Amino acid sequence: MIAFTYVKTWLKAGKTSDFPSNRGGCLKYKDKQIAIINFERKKEWYARQNACPHKMKMALSRGMLGSMGDIPKISCHLHKRTFSLVDGTNLNGDDLKIATYSVKIVGDEVFVGFLD
Ligand code: FES
Repeated sequence: MIAFTYVKTWLKAGKTSDFPSNRGGCLKYKDKQIAIINFERKKEWYARQNACPHKMKMALSRGMLGSMGDIPKISCHLHKRTFSLVDGTNLNGDDLKIATYSVKIVGDEVFVGFLD
């Protein structure tokens, strides 16, 4: 279960139909780019940092989705660094991590939660 206790701002990202299945879209909030991922195969949505921490390229919204065991993951298409969609850790072992944001679906709309 995802706790939304600390979310201060819920930003409407768009309609669920705006985001292709098993792929990502991108949202800008203040100085952040957020990858919004519609992981249709797992029936889950994620909102994660779009910048790949390897070279700070805005790439993860176009990343490749998959699983490592039970862990849903996204791989950067540039150099294949792979991150857990659950907690943002780098599954390749590097000390690089991506930020995670709450996401919720209300009706047919997608909202992303921010702490500020
Ligand atoms: S920029 Fe993403 S793995 Fe290199």
